[in-house]
Amino acid sequence: MSDIEITRADGVLTIRLARTQKKNALTSAMYDAMTAAFADAQRDADVGAIVIRGGDGVFTAGNDIQDFIAAAQAPGEMAALRFIEALAALETPLVAAIEGVAVGIGSTLMLHCDLVYAAPDARFHMPFVDLGLVPEAGSSLLLPRRVGMARASEILLLGEAFDAEAAQRLGLVNAIVPAADLYAHAQSRAAALAKKPRAALAATRRLLRGDGAELRAHMRLEAEAFAKALRSGEAQKAFVAFMTRSKA
Ligand code: COA
Repeated sequence: MSDIEITRADGVLTIRLARTQKKNALTSAMYDAMTAAFADAQRDADVGAIVIRGGDGVFTAGNDIQDFIAAAQAPGEMAALRFIEALAALETPLVAAIEGVAVGIGSTLMLHCDLVYAAPDARFHMPFVDLGLVPEAGSSLLLPRRVGMARASEILLLGEAFDAEAAQRLGLVNAIVPAADLYAHAQSRAAALAKKPRAALAATRRLLRGDGAELRAHMRLEAEAFAKALRSGEAQKAFVAFMTRSKA
């Protein structure tokens, strides 16, 4: 589909978010396309790594807010949830290349990546509480583990955004790469991973991550809280405020 472009080169499958006019806000169809790309990558012996990237100065503005409104009205299994579960269970190494805004899942997905590269203008933001929501993708477990409870509270409770330098200081980003070189750099690091002995790399990844049972259980709790929050007055008010905001 045109909002998600999939390409393959040098053992690397690249997922490019390409809904630029909407800041790459993620629709159900885009989540499903990415989930399918993960499955394809895992099935394909020629693919040894995945790159996820945006383009034209933006990574993603997170979940499409219109889709949040629709999901609250017609509860059911959300495409976003299927994507998050596939992301957490992914066995193929994942490299993110982030320029511009990375909101919501755009930020939390990096907690599942093996390597993350950011352009100097990258800006991370997890404004779940301000939207009347709760964190997802295991971020309420993984973020405090990575950055400590004090900083995680500023990011997830106060909803403080942070830039590429802060992300690197926090250990969330491997390197800051000039925007002109970002995608080539991420591609070359992913190609390097794809060339490693597969079984040893997969086993090392599993050892680094642990068995995942705690994460899966925590993600179920998050998903229940998220589904409830999605239908709340607080969330509905925040969604309508965004969709009807006037642009100065
Ligand atoms: N859902 C739906 N549409 C979105 C969107 C989202 N998450 N993010 C951006 N868009 C749309 C805007 O409505 C706008 O559409 P329009 O041109 O038809 O009016 C277009 O994308 C461009 O966005 P705009 O807000 O004008 O760009 P900006 O550069 O001023 O701001 C953001 C960019 C990302 C800071 C801002 O769009 C934003 O805050 N988006 C919402 C982020 C969010 O809360 N995501 C949910 C996380 S859980």
